[in-house]
Amino acid sequence: MTKKITIGLICGGTSGEHEVSLISAYNIQAALSREKFNVLLVGIDKNGSWYLGNHESFLKNVENVRKVSFDTEFPVRFPQRNLKKQGESSDIISEVDVFFPITHGKHGEDGALQGLLEIFGKPYVGADVYGSAICMDKDVTKRLLREYGIPIAKYQMLRKPEELRFEDAVQNLGETLFVKPCREGSSLGVSKVRSSKEYFEALREAFAADSKVLVEESVSGREIECSVLGNDSPEAASVLGEITPAYEFYSYEAKYVDERGADLIVPADIDLDVSRNIRQTAVEAFQVTECRGMARIDFFLKSDNTFILNEINTLPGFTNISMYPKLWEASGLSYPDLLESLIDLALE
Ligand SMILES: Nc1ncnc2c1ncn2[C@@H]1O[C@H](COP(=O)(O)OP(=O)(O)O)[C@@H](O)[C@H]1O
Ligand SMILES: [Mg+2]
Repeated sequence: MTKKITIGLICGGTSGEHEVSLISAYNIQAALSREKFNVLLVGIDKNGSWYLGNHESFLKNVENVRKVSFDTEFPVRFPQRNLKKQGESSDIISEVDVFFPITHGKHGEDGALQGLLEIFGKPYVGADVYGSAICMDKDVTKRLLREYGIPIAKYQMLRKPEELRFEDAVQNLGETLFVKPCREGSSLGVSKVRSSKEYFEALREAFAADSKVLVEESVSGREIECSVLGNDSPEAASVLGEITPAYEFYSYEAKYVDERGADLIVPADIDLDVSRNIRQTAVEAFQVTECRGMARIDFFLKSDNTFILNEINTLPGFTNISMYPKLWEASGLSYPDLLESLIDLALE
C-alpha cells in the first residue's frame, strides 16, 4: 500500500470571503478519500491567528454562510525551520505533505499565503506567488491581457476618488458604470452606477475596501465562466457555464445568501465555434497571467457573439455547487477526481 498523503487544508482568513472559504473547505474535506489522504484542517480567524482542526466537528454551521465558523481550541505554532531545539517534538505543519489553501481574497489568494508556504518549503495547490498576485489585481491582470490582445472592458484605475469626475467617467466609459475595488472578490464593494450620487457612494464603498479602484463601462452580455486546470502548459479548459443573476448584477447576495439569487446553467448554450474560441482564450489568459494549478476565468458574451474577459480567479469557490467544480463535473471529471488532479499538479 502506498503511503497516505497528508493534506493541510487551509481555510478562513482575514478577508471578507472568510465564510465562503469555510464552506468550500467543508466540502473539500468531505470529498477527499480517507483511504488516500489524511486531512488536517487549518483555520485562520479574522484576525489572522491559525488553529488546527483535527476532529470532525471543527467546522460548524456549514449550511449558513452568515453563521459558519470553526473551533479555536488548538492554536497552531508556526514551524521554526532550521531552528528546532534538540528533542523538541515536531510541529503539526511539518507533517503536512501538500497544502491546499482554499482562502479567498486578501492574504489568502493574493500571493501572501503562497509566499509563506514557499518559505515552509511545502508544495501547495493552485497558483504560485506570481500568478496569485497578478490575478488578485484586476488592473494588472487587464494590462497583461490587453498587451496579449485579449479583449477587456474599457476602464480607468483610480488611486483617489477625485481623480475621475462623474461627468468625465460618463463621457469616457458610458452612462452606466461599474465601480469596484481592484483587489477584492465575491462582488464585495462592487456597485452599478447611473447617477453622480450613486457614483459618489460607490467610490466611497470601493475605496473603503482598497486603495486602487476601477471604474468600468457596463458591459451588457451573458456571464460565462470557464474552468482551467493544469500547470505550465494547461491542455484543459472545461465546458462553459452561464450565470443568470436574479439581481441587477451578480452581487454577494446573489452569489451566497439568496438561494434563488442566480441560476447556474451548465453547459451554457453557446455556438460551438464561439465556445471553442472562449475556451482557447481562457487557456491563453491562464498562461499570460502566470497561473498554475487552477483558475476560473470569467467572460461577458455579447449579443453579436464577441466576448470580453472580465476577471481571473485563482482560488475560485469550491462548494459542491460552485461553478469551478461543476464545470469539471460536466466535462467528465468528478469533484473527488478534480481534487486529486489538483493535488497531483501541486506535487508535480
Ligand atoms: N463592467 C461590467 N459590466 C457589467 N457587469 C459587471 C461589470 N463588472 C462587474 N459586473 C458584475 O459584477 C459582478 C462582480 O464583479 P467582478 O468584476 O466579477 O468582481 P468580483 O471579483 O468581486 O467577482 C460580475 O459578476 C457582474 O455581474
Ligand atoms: Mg467575479
